[in-house]
Amino acid sequence: MLMKLATSLLFLLLLTLNLAHAEHAKFLAFPEGFKWCVATSAHQIEGYNTESDWWDWEQIPGKIKNGETSGAACDHWNRVPQDTLLIKNLGVKQYRFSVEWAKIEPREGQWDFEAILHYQLEILALRAAGIEPMITLHHFTFPRWLREKGGWEWEGTPEAFAAYAEKVYTLIGALGVRDWITINEPMVHLVLGYLSGMEPPGYADIKKVAAPLRGMLLSHAAAYRRLHRLAQENGRDIRVGVAHHLRVFDPHSKINPLDRYLAAKFDEIFNWGFDEPLTTGRMKIKIPFTIHVDERLPGIVGTQDFIGVNYYTRDIIKFALKKPLPAEMLVKEGAATTDVGWEIYPKGFYRMLRAVAERHPGVPIVITENGTADSRDAFRGEFLKDHLAQLHRAIHEGIPVEGYCHWSLMDNFEWIYGFEPRFGLYSVDYATQKRTLRESGRLYQQISRENGFWR
Ligand code: BGC
Repeated sequence: MLMKLATSLLFLLLLTLNLAHAEHAKFLAFPEGFKWCVATSAHQIEGYNTESDWWDWEQIPGKIKNGETSGAACDHWNRVPQDTLLIKNLGVKQYRFSVEWAKIEPREGQWDFEAILHYQLEILALRAAGIEPMITLHHFTFPRWLREKGGWEWEGTPEAFAAYAEKVYTLIGALGVRDWITINEPMVHLVLGYLSGMEPPGYADIKKVAAPLRGMLLSHAAAYRRLHRLAQENGRDIRVGVAHHLRVFDPHSKINPLDRYLAAKFDEIFNWGFDEPLTTGRMKIKIPFTIHVDERLPGIVGTQDFIGVNYYTRDIIKFALKKPLPAEMLVKEGAATTDVGWEIYPKGFYRMLRAVAERHPGVPIVITENGTADSRDAFRGEFLKDHLAQLHRAIHEGIPVEGYCHWSLMDNFEWIYGFEPRFGLYSVDYATQKRTLRESGRLYQQISRENGFWR
């Protein structure tokens, strides 16, 4: 009797809890026409980018984890039709990918029409599948010949970049590309290539960062103007922006003025070091006793039609006299982390979107990347929902975010980490090149098809 009563009470309790949950469950609907999207980059998936600086970098022993090289990567170059169907299968409206400068212009002034034809077919395949292409012109890699001339430091680079943008626009983009990214994550590129020396060109001298930063700003602006001029000439509507990598930098101690000062400095330089000059026309980097740059650059103001945001994580900044800068970047104690040790911090997504909206009131925002390394697909689904909930909150408060590109469509070559980190909605078996939709991929498919999710 007592047992029966206890079971009934337990049943009632569970029912109430369940009902309470159901009452609170809410469908987070995204605005009509919201652009669900997936993202990749050429070097990470296509394979055999043999005329590029990254290809050379990978051959140097010790540069890439486990001595790996990109090699055939995901062999995407030979699998565009099949991979386009994978994108379509996710139900997304847009696909962000990069075209490879080293393949299109393998030697200075020599255009490779086979490569151009390849990308033309890719655009046509996407359009036939009802997917809108978004092109990135520079995603970390350079043609070897340009690297040898000095990369972003060479004074001829802005014109060379604009000429490359022109070729891509007239021969590839005119087949129906509206959204353009000139440079992916300029500040990441600057930090890893010129400050830490971990990526090409492998410099590690803070005093030398002004030249490549200037080169990137001028190149971006030159390509922006060229693309718009061409589009105007043939009456097309295009939008050009930059994909900024934005991270939250919080002080280790909220009351330690040095931690606070340094966290604010990291934010100022890393998050806004490229964006600010495009607003003010002045390139500024000021770190006491270390570097002082303040320079006016012509023609760069107002060259972002939308703000591209790549969001992944946060860093905790602590004053450390013995370190350069002098600061340590830490992971929040006790925080959940991804396979590559990055803190999972969804709220930071909202915080960074607020920061963008405050700097650029009313300017459209596109999430050009967000995702996680999770080889077992153990937490990607939750990561996705938690981040999308923060995005939903931002949109609900009036922040004009127009689309969300998940990084990445499939597992790929993760730069200095090699093939180990798995960022894909599809897993890739590199021995057979078989792609398999992960459980989290199925979730993303459902979210994009229903334009929202239950929470
Ligand atoms: C880059 C991608 C990279 C991803 C994950 C972004 O910083 O744009 O190329 O794969 O992060 O690390």
